[in-house]
Amino acid sequence: EETDATGLHVFPGFMDVHIHSRDPGATHKEDFYHSTWAAAAGGLTTVFEMPNTNPPVNHVENFHKQVENLQPKAHVDFALWAICLGHLNINEIQSLHEAGAVAFKFFWGYAVHKKTYQLMYNYKPEMEDVIPPFQDGEVYDMFQEVAKTGKPFAIHAENNELIQHLTQKVEESGRRDYGALLQGRPNLAEATTIQTGISFAKDAGTRLHVLHVSTEEGVELIRQAQQEGYPITSETCPHFLYLSNKDFEKIGPHMKVYPPVKYEKDQNGLWKGIADGVVSVACSDHAPHTEEEKDGDLWSIPAGMCGVETLAPLMIHAVSEGRITPYELGKLLSSQPARLFGIYPQKGSLQIGTDADLTLVDFKRQKTIHKHELHSKSKVTPYDGFQLQGAPVATIVRGTTMMKDGAVTEEPAGRVVKP
Ligand code: DOR
Ligand code: ZN
Ligand code: ZN
Repeated sequence: EETDATGLHVFPGFMDVHIHSRDPGATHKEDFYHSTWAAAAGGLTTVFEMPNTNPPVNHVENFHKQVENLQPKAHVDFALWAICLGHLNINEIQSLHEAGAVAFKFFWGYAVHKKTYQLMYNYKPEMEDVIPPFQDGEVYDMFQEVAKTGKPFAIHAENNELIQHLTQKVEESGRRDYGALLQGRPNLAEATTIQTGISFAKDAGTRLHVLHVSTEEGVELIRQAQQEGYPITSETCPHFLYLSNKDFEKIGPHMKVYPPVKYEKDQNGLWKGIADGVVSVACSDHAPHTEEEKDGDLWSIPAGMCGVETLAPLMIHAVSEGRITPYELGKLLSSQPARLFGIYPQKGSLQIGTDADLTLVDFKRQKTIHKHELHSKSKVTPYDGFQLQGAPVATIVRGTTMMKDGAVTEEPAGRVVKP
């Protein structure tokens, strides 16, 4: 089928390196059919699936099972993250690497059950002490083990012990607003974890990747390490670029996410990090929960929201706002993630031919986000009603048009991608 690109911008296929499709484990929230359908609708040709499924991608057998599970449902190409669970799977890291895991994720500061499984469900206190957060020694072992693979060791950077300590009094007082949540000093909690991560990575020779950076402090620590010549990278998400604590009044608990959305000064720090190249990847952290699960008290509802379909539209909008150039857009959503995760030029390069991954963008198109038009199972988004300038108008995966003018094919055709 031919697509006339007159008046449009042609990009190498956009990708989202950070999505949680809940498949298997919590497919009442989302599944891979829907998340990748949403991805195609939002102009993406490749996604990277996070490993905190149930069961998780924690050893090579589960890796292969997950490829088999996901491939028939995939509307776009996909790679798989593997999870690091300290002593529970440190001996599995090399075989996960060889099997084709794209990178390794560690939820720093969280009890294993709390973070890998419990976050996806609703809060269940009886699961809390199953496996406590790992101590520094065990974390350092993981830095060393992943260093041997040469692949990125990616950290969810939150010093949860600090947050819980600082919010204890607030919790006791019964305050449950967004300001109370910020009493946990999440900026400091991110900075202290990134700082330790950088120290460990320098010593162990690990390629550290900082997931969903949400603070100016984080950007500045990463900048400094990069200036010293260390191979440290980072990503951020539209919710940290477009939202701040001030939006809670209007949006409410649906914007609860970990790490939490911070302050305006952090938005500015992150845009600056993008402009300077300190933050080289934009991704969504698509983490759906059902509307029922998200409706309720800020402190007891699960964290996470949809984002895969709105990632490219919001970053395209940033071009129209003059925050980034079209060239930088292509780097943030395509060439830089592909290089960082070792799949360039297989992905992330502008290919000519009948098997190309392409995203076509119309910078003149105006589009309003309507939550009920989203293709995910869950429609929980903080962007309902956002008016955007510019939109992806076609998604072409290895030559097959998966989306054209907003209409998405219902035939999965995605394939697994390995570095
Ligand atoms: O808000 C979040 N939700 N942050 C995470 O790190 C995990 C994610 C999830 O899986 O729900
Ligand atoms: Zn995370
Ligand atoms: Zn995540």
